Amino acid sequence: MSRVYNFSAGPAVLPEEVLQEAAAEMLDYRGTGMSVMEMSHRSKAYDTIIKEAEADLRELMNIPDNYKVLFLQGGASQQFAMIPMNLMKNRVADYIVTGQWAKKAYQEACLYGKANKIASSEDETFSYIPDCSDLPVSEDADYVYICENNTIYGTKFKTLPNTKGKTLVADVSSCFLSEPVDVTRYGLVYGGVQKNIGPAGVVIVIIREDLIREDVLPGTPTMLKYKVHADNGSLYNTPPAYGIYICGKVFKWLKKRGGLEAMKEYNERKAKILYDFLDASRLFRGTVRKEDRSLMNVPFVTGSEELDAKFVKEAKEAGFENLKGHRSVGGMRASIYNAMPIEGVEKLVEFMKKFEAENA
Ligand SMILES: Cc1ncc(COP(=O)(O)O)c(C=O)c1O
Repeated sequence: MSRVYNFSAGPAVLPEEVLQEAAAEMLDYRGTGMSVMEMSHRSKAYDTIIKEAEADLRELMNIPDNYKVLFLQGGASQQFAMIPMNLMKNRVADYIVTGQWAKKAYQEACLYGKANKIASSEDETFSYIPDCSDLPVSEDADYVYICENNTIYGTKFKTLPNTKGKTLVADVSSCFLSEPVDVTRYGLVYGGVQKNIGPAGVVIVIIREDLIREDVLPGTPTMLKYKVHADNGSLYNTPPAYGIYICGKVFKWLKKRGGLEAMKEYNERKAKILYDFLDASRLFRGTVRKEDRSLMNVPFVTGSEELDAKFVKEAKEAGFENLKGHRSVGGMRASIYNAMPIEGVEKLVEFMKKFEAENA
């Protein structure tokens, strides 16, 4: 068996321990004589899996009792519609557009009501987070929306926006469980799990109970109502059962590693190795305003498209996979999620130094 260092932005590297455990349980899950993939989602064994997953996530994130945890399908993109359908009571919402994913969410919301772009960093290719301390928040806004960590551009909100009392909704797909969060600051926080937690397709929504309403926008499909999933403990229909099982294992792995405080410390150490190198390099440079840098996604360039391509190719040959930047921005991007070991980043930097010596 040979595993590479996988810097993919998502689906992304998962903890090897989790994959090994899942492999060992593949044919016979704890004496049931079947795989979790083959198991009824109404079975006792599965009930334990999903309940433990929720309990462990609640413990990790310190989720208050007045928030529901929903394990849903459709990826993060389905939330772009589900959020306005369920929360746009006044049909008004404010969006802070800091990248392609926030922009897509904003465009989707425009289909359902008056979505206002109250701030944007598109003027400088989304390379920074705008000042959100005193934005023109709409008086009748049902919520203010952010994408907290911008996977493509590598920026992160270090302080949450001042929503002037309005409900904050956040997409945390690419920073999920990478550091402690204060859930009470949000009305709804959600993320696709395929970066930091598990297999693509599952999306986790953490929503304050008062936002779960019967009177959603007319025509909202049953499957897209938070209330339906909340009332049924995420088992209204067949959930993405195997995916949730893997998420549960990752939650246990995180708890064993010391929880989110420990993860934050580890992620900061890891990111610093790469950022420090970029700041000192004669060849490579980071593309993002320093104070807005993400701990999870690190974009960088050489300044020459040709050299960028050469770097990606040679890195791949050396066992560093998926370093090519997003197709919309080019350059390189190293995604260094929770499961990327610090050795992976150290070895990448070693390789970059060698490449620099040969090409600068
Ligand atoms: C921040 C963010 N939001 C949303 C998405 C879309 O996720 P999905 O493909 O699960 O719909 C992505 C995907 O990479 C993302 O990075």
